[in-house]
Amino acid sequence: MKIIKVDNQEEGGKIAFTLLKEKLASGAKTLGLATGSTPITFYQEIIKSNLDFSELTSINLDEYVGLSVDNDQSYAYFMKEQLFQYKPFKESFIPNGLAKDLKAEVKCYDVIIDQHPIDFQILGIGRNGHIGFNEPGTAFDVTTQVVDLAADTIQANSRFFDSYEEVPKQAISMGIASIMKSKTIVLMAYGRDKADAIAQMINGPVTTDLPASILQEHDDVIVIVDEAAASKL
Ligand code: GLP
Repeated sequence: MKIIKVDNQEEGGKIAFTLLKEKLASGAKTLGLATGSTPITFYQEIIKSNLDFSELTSINLDEYVGLSVDNDQSYAYFMKEQLFQYKPFKESFIPNGLAKDLKAEVKCYDVIIDQHPIDFQILGIGRNGHIGFNEPGTAFDVTTQVVDLAADTIQANSRFFDSYEEVPKQAISMGIASIMKSKTIVLMAYGRDKADAIAQMINGPVTTDLPASILQEHDDVIVIVDEAAASKL
């Protein structure tokens, strides 16, 4: 893993964007995208740029079960607000959290990922070391799946909802095996809340107890961290 320390989230977004530009110049066609507060400055750099994304494909990591694209807490809504309304892609895929048949939706998403191998995957990290919504205990060989969110994740994400009760308890998430197939992975983390997860991800054992630790086994991972997130390294 290559570690890049930055002063703040703005600088982190700029560096991630520079890495993206390099990959686009060498032919990247499919971007794996993430939600959460972490990638927002990266998306702002994309929006400010004059790059044309109309020939690119995006595939998002995850979506809450039960939220419609019009719900302002859904990840589909987030992506539209933060990026897609300014930079439309040729096609953008996000799991359908309202699918009646979740098993079929999960299979369908695996086919989409197989048909569009991800060249450049953006990741944030949960306080408990989750990536996408792959919580501690998730097997490393799973592809897209329906997950029960960990209590800590529901707690952390409740800041975006009116109450803890309103946070969906399930999500559809690209699996760890799918994430590991991405050619290049850029994981960003900012703030003291992420320091334990970052330290264990980089220096701890590779274990399903800390899902992001599997990234030690990928040969092209760049980790962008601010001082606070890097404070336990
Ligand atoms: C959610 C998302 C993750 C994200 C994480 C951290 O759980 N499913 O993809 O990395 O939150 O969010 P934030 O960037 O807001 O800290």
